[in-house]
Amino acid sequence: MEPREKRLRIAVQSKGRLAEASLQLIEQTGLRFRRGKDDLLLRVEDAPIDVLRVRDDDIANFVAKGVCDLGIVGRNALEEARLTDRIDAPDVIAELGFGRCALKIAVPENVEYGGLRDLEGARIASSHPGILRRYLDEKGVRAEIVEMSGSVEVAPRLHIATAICDLVSTGATLDANGLRAVETVLDSEAVLVQGGWPLNDRLLEVRARFLTRVDGVLASRGSKYIMMNAPESALDEIAEILPGAEAPTVVPLAGRPGAVAVHAVCKESVFWETLERLKRAGASSILLVPIEKMMI
Ligand code: PRP
Ligand code: ZN
Repeated sequence: MEPREKRLRIAVQSKGRLAEASLQLIEQTGLRFRRGKDDLLLRVEDAPIDVLRVRDDDIANFVAKGVCDLGIVGRNALEEARLTDRIDAPDVIAELGFGRCALKIAVPENVEYGGLRDLEGARIASSHPGILRRYLDEKGVRAEIVEMSGSVEVAPRLHIATAICDLVSTGATLDANGLRAVETVLDSEAVLVQGGWPLNDRLLEVRARFLTRVDGVLASRGSKYIMMNAPESALDEIAEILPGAEAPTVVPLAGRPGAVAVHAVCKESVFWETLERLKRAGASSILLVPIEKMMI
């Protein structure tokens, strides 16, 4: 194995809600690696980069301690590591737009809940004791926290606790366990983090290139390319309708004086309503196409 400092290391979740989307994002930056199902380390074929698949809870720590240089982690896990492991949390350098969920307090459906004061003196089971403790302190609620690393949702049924504080995404787990969410403690999504440890020039360049490509992938995700024909006189109105577009490209149409083709990148969603408004403004042959890659 090559010495550690010769390859950049990216930590991702080995299993769980972020695992698949994290690997997909890395692949979309053009990096190729073979995926063995249980491989701990995925070696990128044509760049000095390794992808390390680790436990969710370890990612923030690994990046903070320089074991890995970058990490993809839920904001919840990052914040929890900062509070309970007392690490200098690595910097968040991008919000990745997937793995959205929230840390919520939930109580059994048949229990009345009139607000936070009802949690005074209660016992709350949680996978995120650090974040929950801070939240309760901020709200001035004294409650006991029972730390659980999994299956938090069964705690009320087993009389381990009267309430829980756990991640909720679709809400199916709460429903299945007869619980209802009553407070939102933290909104979370996947974020890209970077450690502050020194890298040699070559790896600095490798990292910069990877990060530029991540930016490109994120930008192209929400963006569409729009094309249409229009009378030149309608250009101002069309420019106003296009959502999140910079200066459009305008080219004359051969053999049709006064008519132009308009091309633009739209950085926001383009709805049917937008296309209808463009048509009313005089546009025709409107095409909306996805963007595969983008470099800004
Ligand atoms: C989380 C959380 C809930 C579930 C919520 O667990 O602890 O169990 O997801 O998702 P839902 O609202 O879509 O049902 P996760 O699957 O991450 O695994 P773990 O609890 O075993 O760590
Ligand atoms: Zn769970």
